[in-house]
Amino acid sequence: MTENWNEIDRFAKDLIHHAGETIKNSFKDKLSIESKSNANDLVTNMDKEIEQYFVKEIRRYNPDHKILGEEGYGDQVTSHEGTVWIVDPIDGTMNFVHQQRNFAISIGIYHNGIGMLGYIYDVVLDELYHAHKGNGAYMNEEKLKPLKPVPVSEAIFSINATWITPHEKVPYQIFGPIVHDVRGTRSYGSAALELAYVAAGRLDGYLTMRLAPWDIAGGKILIEEVGGVVTNLQNQTHSLLGKDSLFAGNADVHNEIYQNYLQGKL
Ligand code: IPD
Ligand code: CA
Ligand code: CA
Ligand code: CA
Repeated sequence: MTENWNEIDRFAKDLIHHAGETIKNSFKDKLSIESKSNANDLVTNMDKEIEQYFVKEIRRYNPDHKILGEEGYGDQVTSHEGTVWIVDPIDGTMNFVHQQRNFAISIGIYHNGIGMLGYIYDVVLDELYHAHKGNGAYMNEEKLKPLKPVPVSEAIFSINATWITPHEKVPYQIFGPIVHDVRGTRSYGSAALELAYVAAGRLDGYLTMRLAPWDIAGGKILIEEVGGVVTNLQNQTHSLLGKDSLFAGNADVHNEIYQNYLQGKL
């Protein structure tokens, strides 16, 4: 089936803006907060409400489209056949709860496994990062520039500090030298925003041990549109059907870090 991508793009942007308004309006209300896999893995009534809103509207728009959403209101997606929306209703829930900022809505729309449309919406700043395959990436109306090479010694990397504590799978000896050799590290607490910042050239790389498809799907499309690279830590393409590690960056930094710090070590 052929899709009208310009029409889907307009529809997705309308949904995202509407969801953003709902989230902003919720700041005055008391949140209902629960834990999921552990005490720090938070979910709120808004995460659920926003995902339910996306699912309802997408199904109304086109019942053939499949939806893979974090909170489980979409479909059991086991293949990338057809058009699949990969949705994180609120990425950075901990920031949403504690800070009322530094969180985003993230959506990637894939067709037979190819990323067609990507969105990351910083609700509080009203910044919509978006990309349409082959047409470049934008922050609101501003076109993002192709990423320029940066030496590792001048690169800024995003990394969650948890991963440089002694850890069963990734001894901090692997990430430690990267943290030591780059110019600086940051940790924003929203994978989607960290990927948007890589696309915007504010970060040169982002490394993390475990993300879900909805954390990666929108940002991958944005980064690839500006010539960046998104893989797992073994330099492989993500399946986007299950959890995986992530290494996103400027193409040169990605290559240099992979060759000199990661290859054969994980
Ligand atoms: C989380 C955030 C966080 C990352 C976690 C994700 P959520 O997503 O992106 O930055 O470190 O791994 O699960 O749960 O807030 O949507
Ligand atoms: Ca979550
Ligand atoms: Ca997330
Ligand atoms: Ca989420």
